[in-house]
Amino acid sequence: MVQTFVDNGYAVVIGDFNDDLGFATAKKFGISHFKTDVRCPESCEELIAKALATHSVETINVLIANVGKNEGMSTAETRVHEWVNSIQLNLNSIFYTCKPALSKMIENGRIILTSSLVGIVGQPNNSAYAAAKGGIISYAKSLALEMASRGITVNAICPHAVDTPLLYEWADAQPEGRAVTLERLRASIPIGRFIQPQEVAAAALFLASPLAGAITGTTLLIDGGASCGC
Ligand SMILES: NC(=O)c1ccc[n+]([C@@H]2O[C@H](COP(=O)([O-])OP(=O)(O)OC[C@H]3O[C@@H](n4cnc5c(N)ncnc54)[C@H](O)[C@@H]3O)[C@@H](O)[C@H]2O)c1
Repeated sequence: MVQTFVDNGYAVVIGDFNDDLGFATAKKFGISHFKTDVRCPESCEELIAKALATHSVETINVLIANVGKNEGMSTAETRVHEWVNSIQLNLNSIFYTCKPALSKMIENGRIILTSSLVGIVGQPNNSAYAAAKGGIISYAKSLALEMASRGITVNAICPHAVDTPLLYEWADAQPEGRAVTLERLRASIPIGRFIQPQEVAAAALFLASPLAGAITGTTLLIDGGASCGC
């Protein structure tokens, strides 16, 4: 995501909880990183303020809320505090990130929220994550209505089986183990392969572009056809 936006001329600021990763990415692309915990509203407010200050600007063109983590737990296994934590990380964080940014968005700005295919279809053993991702889609529609008069679009992107560490962590936690899980998943994707991170970023780049000014409140699937049916 960072590479795609930097390559296309955006002045990117990242906020990640993992400082090592954040600083390494920032160094690689010559951009700024600020340690952020999206579960904490104050931390998100701070990120927005620091992002503006570091570029000596007062407005934001594009906001991408991209954090997410699936726990791989069924409803029966999930304890109440685990459910609450998942909703906090995967859904509340979206509100915490958007709220302080809204008054700073330029007219015709773009807000892109990362949901998932499992925000649209169900997935066993991932119930809290799926509920949160479904919530993001509803939230994108409501925020799109709230922002429409300012020309600000709000859309949800819905990736599936993206070749990132999250995919492998999830596969490791499945009862069948990594190899079998990944092969079963790959076989269920009509294009016959996992999605590359650059392909998700390309969808976000399109939604961020002036070409997408009439697209708001929608969900853009990047799933290799997995949702088409069988
Ligand atoms: N990889 C997939 O197969 C897949 C499929 C569908 C949707 N998604 C979604 O795509 C998005 C990106 O996922 P990814 O695959 O790049 O995952 P990833 O695990 O590779 O990256 C997630 C990033 O979020 C950061 N993070 C975790 N907790 C945080 C916190 N509390 N505050 C700030 N940062 C925090 C991590 O440090 C990491 O850099 C997520 O919303 C995920 O749910 C991924």
